[in-house]
Amino acid sequence: MRIDIITVLPELLESPLSHSIIKRAVDKHLAEINIINLRDFTNDKRRTVDDYQYGGDAGMVMMVEPIDKCISFLKSQRNYDEVIYMSPDGEVFNQKIANTLSTYENIIILCGHYKGIDHRVREHLITREISIGDYVLTGGELAAAVITDAVVRLIPGAMSDNESALSDSFQDNLLAPPIYTRPADYKGWKVPEVLLSGNAAEIDKWQMKQAIERTKKLRPGLWEEE
Ligand code: ADE
Repeated sequence: MRIDIITVLPELLESPLSHSIIKRAVDKHLAEINIINLRDFTNDKRRTVDDYQYGGDAGMVMMVEPIDKCISFLKSQRNYDEVIYMSPDGEVFNQKIANTLSTYENIIILCGHYKGIDHRVREHLITREISIGDYVLTGGELAAAVITDAVVRLIPGAMSDNESALSDSFQDNLLAPPIYTRPADYKGWKVPEVLLSGNAAEIDKWQMKQAIERTKKLRPGLWEEE
């Protein structure tokens, strides 16, 4: 899978996508993540990507031309399944969307900045708008990193134990059950007996019961969606 992320702040994306499972997926050529500097698609000496807003409101707006040039260049190289714009107005990201995106071959993610982007980009170039939650970030970069992380880890082979993606919280609209490691008793805080029993069927049953109870208690909305 190839993810092309268009940004005016490449530095913000480099570190979050260079570690752990994501780095391994890239090293194994399961994912290719390209961070593209929008300023490389400008013609002026100052590499301008924004301008004043029509109508006189405060706040700069990202211009249509560099974005169009950048997306057109990428599209001339290959086909894309989606051209995503990170925006607090978009559909709210969840595990289902991550699962869908992880099946795609090529996607573009455009990070907004300043007050936002010229609306013509959204009308003519963007195929999907995604938000990571009902709050406003300084720009789309951290949101793009969140999405890229959630998607790349799902690509088959990205995780050493493929099972662990299937047992993630949210994969069945259920939160994950509690997990423990050694010691079995720390200051009298004990690991549930059943997990030490070696009885796989009993452990499965306990984990499912815990997952259901935790979901009902902590995320009743998820439980009702089931
Ligand atoms: N850009 C600014 N805020 C955002 C959010 N909540 N989600 C996605 N992109 C954003």
